[in-house]
Amino acid sequence: MLAIIGGTGLSELEGFEQLEKLALKTPYARSKVRFQRVGSGDKEFVFLARHGAGHKIPPHEINYRANIAALADLGVTEIVAINAVGAIHGDLLPGSVAVPDQLIDYSYSRDVSFYDGKLKAVHHIDFSNPYSETIRQRILQATVAVNSSSKTRCEVLAGGTYACTQGPRLETAAEIRRLAQDGCDMVGMTGMPEASLARELGIEYASLALSVNRAAGLSEEAITLEDIHKVLESGMDFVSAVITEIVRQS
Ligand code: HPA
Repeated sequence: MLAIIGGTGLSELEGFEQLEKLALKTPYARSKVRFQRVGSGDKEFVFLARHGAGHKIPPHEINYRANIAALADLGVTEIVAINAVGAIHGDLLPGSVAVPDQLIDYSYSRDVSFYDGKLKAVHHIDFSNPYSETIRQRILQATVAVNSSSKTRCEVLAGGTYACTQGPRLETAAEIRRLAQDGCDMVGMTGMPEASLARELGIEYASLALSVNRAAGLSEEAITLEDIHKVLESGMDFVSAVITEIVRQS
């Protein structure tokens, strides 16, 4: 079964039939999910709002282990994660999307593993390629289909390195210069440890990242939440159309 993890600007997925809501108990915390369906078809999927209903949980306090464990318990085998990002790559203008193929984790003090020596014995996963190529290609194909069939067109960066910072504050200009030197193309706060936890449980995982601002120091103007929310609102139409396409093809 497919799960969509919604991020900033996507706490609810509209345009789908809303089915059962569940609060699942895991050894880590409770996690809330909702089953949804495309139109009158039989394609069901699970939606999980990473920041909770009403966007109340900040990136560093999300219980990533509870969320991924809950999805695994439901029989989820594939995840499409939606992430808002600041753009470092010059082509990733606000309002465009990326499907990253690499990441660097700069976050800290998060519970990063199920294999913590308590519930599960120590184990080291291969994470050379952090995203599932199969899911990446499905996302990319869906963006092509949406771009060729609807009026909500969008530029797509078919790759790139995602930097995961701790948040909740945005970065300094010097931090972004360092990320750029490290080869990062976009920066967000929620991509990790979500991706590695999914890998630990054998779930295929990839991200559709929506650029909502130029990262700190890369534009003349200060980053304002007002501007970010404007881009989020318009960009989420494209993201929702891509999700619909992915679910239809699943
Ligand atoms: N930095 C980190 N996370 C973000 C940004 C940013 O500029 N924009 C959206 N999420």
